[in-house]
Amino acid sequence: MGFSLTSVLIAVICAFIGWMLKSSKKTNQEPKVKSESRPWVDEDLKDSTDLHQEEEEADDWQESDDNFEYVPLSWKRYPESEMIQRSKEFYELLQKRRSVRFISNEPVPREVINNVIKTAGTAPSGAHTEPWTFVAVQDPDVKHQIREIIEEEEEVNYRKRMGDRWVADLKKLKTNWIKEYLDIAPFLILIFKQVHGFTSKGKKKTHYYNEISVSIACGILLAALQNAGLVTVTTTPLNCGPRLRALLRRPLNEKLLLLLPVGYPSKEATVPDLTRKPLSEIMVTV
Ligand SMILES: Cc1cc2nc3c(=O)[nH]c(=O)nc-3n(C[C@H](O)[C@H](O)[C@H](O)COP(=O)(O)O)c2cc1C
Repeated sequence: MGFSLTSVLIAVICAFIGWMLKSSKKTNQEPKVKSESRPWVDEDLKDSTDLHQEEEEADDWQESDDNFEYVPLSWKRYPESEMIQRSKEFYELLQKRRSVRFISNEPVPREVINNVIKTAGTAPSGAHTEPWTFVAVQDPDVKHQIREIIEEEEEVNYRKRMGDRWVADLKKLKTNWIKEYLDIAPFLILIFKQVHGFTSKGKKKTHYYNEISVSIACGILLAALQNAGLVTVTTTPLNCGPRLRALLRRPLNEKLLLLLPVGYPSKEATVPDLTRKPLSEIMVTV
């Protein structure tokens, strides 16, 4: 009797401990987030070179060794009427910018491409790290290899990765995985973000806010192209980053952000008849 009572007691204690452990495990668990497929965020920038900074040796990293002197600002003040006129003219110029998917093969002066990229390089960047690389591709063979990589991946994107709603949204814009402009456009500009840089001693240097910085530079590049009378279409080649980086022999710390085919519009170029939100919808005054 004594034996059986002890065994029952032990069994009850074990069951209680088991229950305690189970419920404590439950409360320690992260709340389950419904895993949602976001291929335009997750897949696009996924790259086998993902850097697990926290796992790396601290010795590999070093603070920036840059030191800046302060100099007087070079700046010009305009009379108010001229400010209004200039801001209006700039708006009118950029209001005419459209994404053009029909680009002529007519050559474009190299100097213009140099100038628009120099302009993009004037962008502000986190801690002045300038975390961008602009690869201007003119070579027809390389352009064709880029097209082959992108079309191969894009076909899978459209057929499998993107989901019905996204494909339907793109149908309105008449875009699909055939990208003739990649062969035809005189220049392809591929913009890479540098996820980290290097100090003069070869140590890794943090590139703060690198994606925001490069995105700002891309906006300036689009404005510079419009100003020069060239056209482009902003593209984010989904899942192509690692293959394009390898093709263009870019280092592992660089990841593809955007690809811009650049040239003159072809004679038969058309664009979707889009309207833009009025100021009252995009601006809130406080
Ligand atoms: C981040 C981003 C990615 C885009 N990706 C593509 C793309 O892959 N293919 C494409 O044809 N257009 C792409 N576009 C262009 C948009 O479809 C276009 O900007 C939009 O329809 C508005 O037209 P607009 O540029 O003529 O004002 C992209 C634009 C942005 C900003």
